Amino acid sequence: MTEEEQQLAALRERAVAELATIETTDGLDEWRLRYLGRERGELSAILKGLGRLPGDQRKQVGQAANLVKVELEGLAETRRGELRAQERAAALEREQLDVTLPGRPITRGHMHPLTRTTRQIAEIFERMGFQTFQGPEVETDYYNFQALNIPQDHPARDMQDTFWVLPGQILLRTQTSPNQIRIMERMRPPVRAIVPGKVYRSEATDASHEAVFHQVEGLLIDETCTMSDLRGVVERFAHEMFGANRKIRFRPSYFPFTEPSAEFDMDCINCDGAGCRICKYSGWLEMGGSGMVHPKVLRGVGYDPAIYRGFAFGLGIERIAMLRYGVEDIRLFSENDLRFLSQFR
Ligand code: DAH
Repeated sequence: MTEEEQQLAALRERAVAELATIETTDGLDEWRLRYLGRERGELSAILKGLGRLPGDQRKQVGQAANLVKVELEGLAETRRGELRAQERAAALEREQLDVTLPGRPITRGHMHPLTRTTRQIAEIFERMGFQTFQGPEVETDYYNFQALNIPQDHPARDMQDTFWVLPGQILLRTQTSPNQIRIMERMRPPVRAIVPGKVYRSEATDASHEAVFHQVEGLLIDETCTMSDLRGVVERFAHEMFGANRKIRFRPSYFPFTEPSAEFDMDCINCDGAGCRICKYSGWLEMGGSGMVHPKVLRGVGYDPAIYRGFAFGLGIERIAMLRYGVEDIRLFSENDLRFLSQFR
């Protein structure tokens, strides 16, 4: 055996022995460079040195070196396969998912209590044949006051001071009642409409007053219609909203756009009329205003009061929501405090 052949045999033995101790593919790459690398590999060094040998030896050693090269490469690939499989198994072990862990809940949004109440109110009236409309919050003096028989200098305006967009002409509506006019201008009787929405008043804020709040307007116009129909509709509403035992009472009142006018109360849902803090010891809760639509208002929209008559009413939505949910401060509805709002999930 020539010196080169002995060198080759020793190299092969060393390489094979080392290969068995390699535990990572990185280690294997490094091993490969060391023995089989083109530039600095030990085997390449031997191959490069072949030129110095006499012709017959050159061929013999060359063939032997090639055999070693092929063998080592084969062994390296086999080892690589084993190491890859090991590494994959280890990664799987590390990345194991515990699918039995409870998920993190996604908190879903929900309706604002006033929206919910508004929809409940609308549903009740819809079952009685009323249709739900919307109207503009920025209103003209004409619709908000004049067409409702509240002329420029009428004292009824004092209770409804508001925010003016164009003083004397354009304002933020103080009531949903202007929609009575807007609806009658657009439809012929019979009319059964409700209009929920925001209203605005320049109001000192306290636990039961806000400068922005919500009303729902009701309007029914037909050839035959009496105050007892009004009473029936209001009573039915109270029963559906607050339970079949609720009682309603009407008190005479004054509104420029109705004649006669009445305010209606419901017996206190907290004390059933006995008297408590909620009803200020009267046994009754104020619910809204109402009346038979004034003939002047009917004439103003081109309805003949000799043929048509009707009733109208207005309810405060916050008031209803406060009673339904036992909320004692109206300001909670607009403060956007999640501790309050998330109770209405
Ligand atoms: N708009 C009135 C207010 O805000 C409430 C009202 C009273 C509405 C009588 C009506 C009605 O439709 O007939 O105080």
